[in-house]
Amino acid sequence: SSDLPVYTQEEVTKHRSLSDGVWVTYKGGVYDITDFVAIHPGGDKILLAAGGALEPFWALYAVHSQDHVLEILSEYKVGEL
Ligand code: HEM
Repeated sequence: SSDLPVYTQEEVTKHRSLSDGVWVTYKGGVYDITDFVAIHPGGDKILLAAGGALEPFWALYAVHSQDHVLEILSEYKVGEL
């Protein structure tokens, strides 16, 4: 648990562009990764997950199965699903 707000999937789905903000979910957490998009080592592919879950994409790109990737993600947490 945390003191962060709880968001609905509908609210997350509204954030799928750089102008509206880019939000993603991962294991019940909500992340505003707008500022990370430009520095993502995998480039614009990250936008495929915009407004939805990271899990299906990270299952395909195993490069994300590393502690340091989760540490980066944690910096962008804004809420719970
Ligand atoms: C690489 C973070 C989402 C595709 C990486 C790396 C990091 C990272 C740190 C470098 C890993 C390393 O080499 O040690 C993230 C974070 C994401 C995210 C924090 C979400 C917030 C995605 C998504 C996709 C993706 C959704 C695909 C749809 C890739 C690819 C690479 C990569 C293809 C390899 C780039 C290369 O080495 O040429 N990502 N990623 N990433 N990511 Fe992501």
